Amino acid sequence: MSDEHSFLTLGIETSCDETSVAILEGETEILVNLVYSQAELHAQYGGVVPEVASRDHVRKLPYLVREAVETTGVAFPDLSLIAATSGPGLIGPLLVGLSHGKGMAFGLDVPFIGVNHLEGHVFAHRLHAPDVEPPFMALIVSGGHTSLIDVPRYAEYRLVGRTVDDAAGEALDKIGKMIGIGYPAGAEIDRLAGMGDPKAIPFPRPMADSPGFDFSFAGLKTAVLYHLRKNPRERHEDIAASVLASVVEILTTKSIEATRRYHRRRLVVVGGVAANSHLRSALVVAGAERDVEVSFPPLDLCTDNAAMIAAVGAYRHLRLGESDPLSLAPDPSRGIGEDVAEEPKDKN
Ligand code: KG4
Ligand code: ZN
Repeated sequence: MSDEHSFLTLGIETSCDETSVAILEGETEILVNLVYSQAELHAQYGGVVPEVASRDHVRKLPYLVREAVETTGVAFPDLSLIAATSGPGLIGPLLVGLSHGKGMAFGLDVPFIGVNHLEGHVFAHRLHAPDVEPPFMALIVSGGHTSLIDVPRYAEYRLVGRTVDDAAGEALDKIGKMIGIGYPAGAEIDRLAGMGDPKAIPFPRPMADSPGFDFSFAGLKTAVLYHLRKNPRERHEDIAASVLASVVEILTTKSIEATRRYHRRRLVVVGGVAANSHLRSALVVAGAERDVEVSFPPLDLCTDNAAMIAAVGAYRHLRLGESDPLSLAPDPSRGIGEDVAEEPKDKN
């Protein structure tokens, strides 16, 4: 069972509040990609509670594995590789998925590989457009991450920028909480913003003019808090539109600029915030002006899912011969491309 077409990878993702199991055939064919979101469970707390998340992963994961196998008709002995997220993420949730994956690999006597969650997000593009190869710049923008990663080729990364405090989605969720929107708030802020005035409140654009491509969103959150204290009756539509004007401007300017700076022609945008309608149109317009093609993989591949984890595992195992020992530990702060820091020289 080692030729590419019958190679079956079972992927597991449990780094945050999605429990997900996928089976991939070869490197890019998704047979099943089941995602169970815990969002409702955490809604009462206004954010993810790590211990609650861990316990729910323990509860759901075995059922999702069984469902994945049953719906595809794949028998356990047919599996060729088990891939599970090893980091970055919440330590407890990571431990649940990783332990389950290692247990399966041991029981089935197949190789195991621990996958970098951020590399998984990059591979959403490969699943969506297997023929559109790197190089490209990737913007990962979700509740957990805001990172710009240069991708000269798969499995080779250069971290270009990342948030120094809150992720963009995290800031939106916290701002949503201030104006009484349930968790997660991003989609509702998107909708409200459509009915508001983006110029109503001049919220700051943190780090917009600072050199480099790092982001900061915590200051925006504080600015909203102070504004609400002084103007408790401000229309939520105007707050949403003005907040998004700031977030969209920062994300758009920095990612298009980074794409150009690293001499790339394509920007791939993934993560839950990539669903934002205002961000999408701003990126497409700015990209067209600067000769950058902007790709958005479909949302079910953009948000946390196990197919992207299986895709990394299959690629690394089949192309690079990689696997990990069963002693592999979760790494909550696992990075990506951090050791290659210098910016490219300008072309003369
Ligand atoms: O990728 P994701 O499902 O989970 C992780 O955080 O890893 O992203 C969830 C984030 C939340 O912060 C949510 O508020 C945000 O994505 N989000 C949006 C939209 N839909 C979801 N943010 C802005 N506009 C949206 N339409
Ligand atoms: Zn993620």
